[in-house]
Amino acid sequence: MNLSESIIILTGSSGNLGNSMFTYFQDKVKFIYQLDINENKSNQSNNSEFIKCDLTDYDNISKIVDEVYSKENKPSVLINNAGYIHNELIVNLTSKESPVHSLENWKKTIDINLNSVFNISSNVIFNMVKNRIKGVIINISSIASSGIAGQSAYSASKAALNALSSVWSKELGMFGIRCNSVSPGFIDTESTRTSLSESKLNSYKKNTSLGKLGNPENICEGIKFIIENNYYTGSVLNIDGGLKL
Ligand SMILES: NC(=O)c1ccc[n+]([C@@H]2O[C@H](COP(=O)([O-])OP(=O)(O)OC[C@H]3O[C@@H](n4cnc5c(N)ncnc54)[C@H](O)[C@@H]3O)[C@@H](O)[C@H]2O)c1
Repeated sequence: MNLSESIIILTGSSGNLGNSMFTYFQDKVKFIYQLDINENKSNQSNNSEFIKCDLTDYDNISKIVDEVYSKENKPSVLINNAGYIHNELIVNLTSKESPVHSLENWKKTIDINLNSVFNISSNVIFNMVKNRIKGVIINISSIASSGIAGQSAYSASKAALNALSSVWSKELGMFGIRCNSVSPGFIDTESTRTSLSESKLNSYKKNTSLGKLGNPENICEGIKFIIENNYYTGSVLNIDGGLKL
């Protein structure tokens, strides 16, 4: 696909990686729709529009997507980047609240990381097929899709995204729509530093062949590759510095 003609929907555009993706792509593509529950006022350009929304609300997302496709700039790329990192052991006998993983936290994590992707992707794909738009869905997964101790819900949600990339690539190839995951390792962002202790981060760095965290630009470059390579579909692009869990 031609990057300069791409019209992108970027979810989670106000967060750490989303902000970097917006900055990286805004002068390379035709238009970006930014979807997030919070606005990041620094993400300004004359070829973008911010739409405040809760991606877990199916009916509202369905309406928003239909509105977007009624406009002149009809998206050919969806980057499912919004997400929520949650750390909790499945059983923790020393916990003061509950020894068992909270159901509420499980549901919240699955709702934001997985159900939201269904909500927006199903409606975007329908509109792409209806308008005969060839394009690509990119799911931002995680190395956690292989299973990280202390991240049951997060790991399960990200593994499910990889499965969806495979399913949708098979169902949608006939329409010229590709679907892939990008699976980052540990990236040097505020969200990584707040969700992991210094000692945990250092131990992950030791298990990374390149001995360091990645940077957001490494992830943006992977997304660019996926948009531009018309024969790349149904895959998980690991960008993790060779991290072995
Ligand atoms: N930072 C990393 O090292 C890393 C590593 C692997 C994978 N990831 C994945 O990359 C993505 C972005 O991560 P990040 O570090 O930028 O996280 P972040 O927390 O900084 O950003 C997430 C964004 O999603 C938005 N969001 C959350 N729930 C929403 C909802 N219901 N509706 C609309 N918007 C919502 C938030 O407002 C926020 O702007 C996530 O999917 C994350 O799992 C990040």
